[in-house]
Amino acid sequence: MAELADAYGSGPYGVTLGGSNPLVSIFPANTLPTTLPQQDPEFVQRTFSSISQRYDFANHLLSGGMDFVWRSRVARLVAAHRPRQILDLATGSGDLAIDLGKACPQAQVTAADFCLPMLEEARKKSVPNLVQADALALPFGEACFDAVTVSFGLRNMASWPEAIGEMGRVLCDGGLLVVLDFSLPRPGLLRGIYRFYLHRILPRVAGWTTGRPEAYAYLGESIEGFPRGEAMNALIAERGFDCRPPRPMCFGIVTLYAAVRSSRRSM
Ligand SMILES: C[S@@+](CC[C@H](N)C(=O)[O-])C[C@H]1O[C@@H](n2cnc3c(N)ncnc32)[C@H](O)[C@@H]1O
Repeated sequence: MAELADAYGSGPYGVTLGGSNPLVSIFPANTLPTTLPQQDPEFVQRTFSSISQRYDFANHLLSGGMDFVWRSRVARLVAAHRPRQILDLATGSGDLAIDLGKACPQAQVTAADFCLPMLEEARKKSVPNLVQADALALPFGEACFDAVTVSFGLRNMASWPEAIGEMGRVLCDGGLLVVLDFSLPRPGLLRGIYRFYLHRILPRVAGWTTGRPEAYAYLGESIEGFPRGEAMNALIAERGFDCRPPRPMCFGIVTLYAAVRSSRRSM
């Protein structure tokens, strides 16, 4: 960990980056009042620190391996935009950053998260350009990325509108924002079955897998309370984006949102 924290140097965005293992200096986590524990930055950092080494295994197990498919879809969508500078926010153990690097070989991918033990997992997988930063106070100048991605991270942030606003600030005009997160299937039998899995089965299995049942105790609640479909698009549009229609996947268990940043002059 000391190796990560010590890797400082000079970088392209007016922030400090390291050499072969670039990592930006530490920015304080935003401390806004929130309602759900899963949006409290201290809780989030503590939780992901405690499960960092088991995170990938739990993810693959609980999604039945579908998380690979979901992230690769994000990477293909981003690649079609032909970006040169990509920011993967809330990168965690870096799986999406890796997919983005493969899908967009011409681009530089910067992978940011505020939880150092999660970044350490990403470093073990040789994810380059790791940055420790709070998504609500990004250490980047305006308009320095052509694409920003955030998979399964926005839901945990203390303020969704502020986080989206900050993503818009670092995106150039016409830049692409892609949000991937949990949602719920349409009302009906499937939603009922999924809710049973989400609230009764998943927390137990995740607890056994990670040894930290408390880390997953609020997952179902956070998914229930997270805007989905057109409500999420409305939230994104309010922050200066032109949204594409939401794309539900796996019967709506997760949804992909893509939006293009409107021109600053037209705002
Ligand atoms: C569920 S993990 C998702 C990791 C990865 N994107 C993936 O698809 O597996 C959520 C990540 O969001 C990060 N996170 C939550 N709030 C954040 C914030 N305000 N700033 C930066 N990272 C944050 C957590 O530290 C955690 O690594």
